[in-house]
Parts: sequence; structure tokens; C-alpha cells
Amino acid sequence: MEIYSYRMALSFHHLVSTAQIHQEDIRVLFDEAARMEEVLQQGGDDRCHGKILASLFYEPSTRTRLSFEAAMRRLGGSVVSAEGIRFSSLYKGESIEDTIRVASQYADIICMRHPDIGSAERAASVSSIPFVNAGDGPGDHPTQGLLDLYTISKERGGIEGLHIAIAGDLLFGRTVHSVSQLVALYEGVHFTFISPPELKMPRKYLTAFAERGVAYMETEDLEAGFGADVLYMTRIQKERFEDLGEYERLKGAYTLTKKHLKGRGVTVMHPLPRVDEIAKDVEDLPNAAYFRQVRNGLVIRMALLSLMLDPHHSP
Ligand code: NCD
Repeated sequence: MEIYSYRMALSFHHLVSTAQIHQEDIRVLFDEAARMEEVLQQGGDDRCHGKILASLFYEPSTRTRLSFEAAMRRLGGSVVSAEGIRFSSLYKGESIEDTIRVASQYADIICMRHPDIGSAERAASVSSIPFVNAGDGPGDHPTQGLLDLYTISKERGGIEGLHIAIAGDLLFGRTVHSVSQLVALYEGVHFTFISPPELKMPRKYLTAFAERGVAYMETEDLEAGFGADVLYMTRIQKERFEDLGEYERLKGAYTLTKKHLKGRGVTVMHPLPRVDEIAKDVEDLPNAAYFRQVRNGLVIRMALLSLMLDPHHSP
């Protein structure tokens, strides 16, 4: 009798947008992440030995790039990388498509960050190896959405029925777009969106929430988030403003302090980097989950690489 070992697989070959992710993918990924927590505690393993990650960052990044690269190395793989708008292909005027075709010959998986919405889709359409969107301008940031969801689930013991407040730059903050779409997949959740009127959540997401019966309210008042289960703070996205005067006017819109959180059980998250949205004294509180969130990012990217590079994974 033959024995087949059956391993759950992701439904996607490339991860371009958050909208591709189903609840079953999340279950598979979070199971793998639980295994990766143990692998990380042992200092890593060598399941990606001989594999190469091409890490292409057309836009500055510290966390996301380091986290992808560290994840690959923890799994025994190696990394070739190019960062900064002056890296040669862009400088010389090469198209994204050609850069991806070239990188596909060198590596086994690509992660790419780019300032333009839609760039990830263009790249994936010509990639002959698995491709991961590491942020496309103000559009989407699916791996950040996944690590945020994983953090919420770990901190709160699940997602269903939670009240999630999101504050700051909801217009340009791509992580907001990603995490809210994932949270909205779960029963009984509701949102409070907190922003200045100029930086409200884009209508297309609100319409989609309304269509699925996900309740939300919009306000300018940060206090509306203090009684939520999670308060997700974000930076005003300076690089997306054409008029820097407008940025200067909006940048100090919200600062969360220890005083605001007195006697509150709300979990405080932030994708980082923070500017002045969360005062330093908040770190003293158990509510502050944003550095745990960073570690979860490493674990989730290890899980993604492990699953996407699995030779039995062929959706
Ligand atoms: C975020 C991003 O790049 O969109 N950071 C991240 O991925 N860790 C948030 C931000 O830059 O404000």
C-alpha cells in the first residue's frame, strides 16, 4: 500500500494582492507560522538550502526588506538584492517586466516593492518563478496585512467578533487597506476608521465592507478607538503628498499617549516606522504590541517562503 503524505497548500502561486487571500490560505499559513515559531527558536533550519530570494526594492524600506531577507536566511536560503531608485536597471530605463524576466533567471522567488499601484501585477504577469508584492505605492501590502492579522489573532485569541479601530492616514496607508480586507473576512467584526477628513478610507473599501455587511463608522476623534479590541495607529505618509504644506498641517493629527490608555485593555499596533503617533511611554504598557508585531512579520514571511518554495506546492 502506498502512503501519500498530504500537505496543505496555498491557493496562489504569486502573492500580488490581499484580495487573492482566502480564509483557507490564512489557516494554512498560520499553521505553518506556528511551526516557524519553533524553527526560529532553534535559530532556523535548512529547508530552503540552495534556494535564492531576489529582493527588489524600488522604494525605501527597512523592516520589510530586512524581514524578507532574514526569513530566507533563517531557512538556509540566500539572497540577492537591489535597493534604491538608483539601482541600475531603473536608472538605465529598463521596464519592470524586463527586470523581472532577468531576476527570474537568477533566483527561485522574488519579492518587490515599487512606488506605483499596479506594478506588482505587471511584474507577476511575466515572472516565471513565485512573486510576492512587498508594497505597491499607496495600493496594497499583502504580507504586512497577513502579519498584522496574525498579530491580532495571537494577541486577542482569534479574530471573530472583534472591534478594530484604525487611525491616521487611511487614504495612503497601504497596510490599512490590506489588514482591513483580511479582518473583514471574519464573522461579527466591526471597524472604527479614525482620520482627518482629507485622509479618509478610500470609498472602494468602504463599499466592499458595506456589501458584505461589515459594520464600520468614520470619525476624526482618536478617543473613539480607546475602547476597541485593537487600535492600529499609522504614520501620515509624507512621500505620497504632492503639497508638503498639506503634510505639515496634517502630520501631528494624532499622538497616542500612556494617559489615553489608563485602565484600557486595547491592543496597540503600528506597522512602523512611527514618527510621533505613539508616545515612547506607551512601550511600558502590556498593550503595546508593535514590537511583537515585528517578530510576527519574520515568522509569517518564513512561513510564506517555506510554503511557496515547497516543491509540492503547485496551485
Ligand atoms: C509600512 C509600509 O511600508 O507601508 N511599513 C512597513 O511595511 N513596515 C508603513 C509605513 O511606511 O508607514
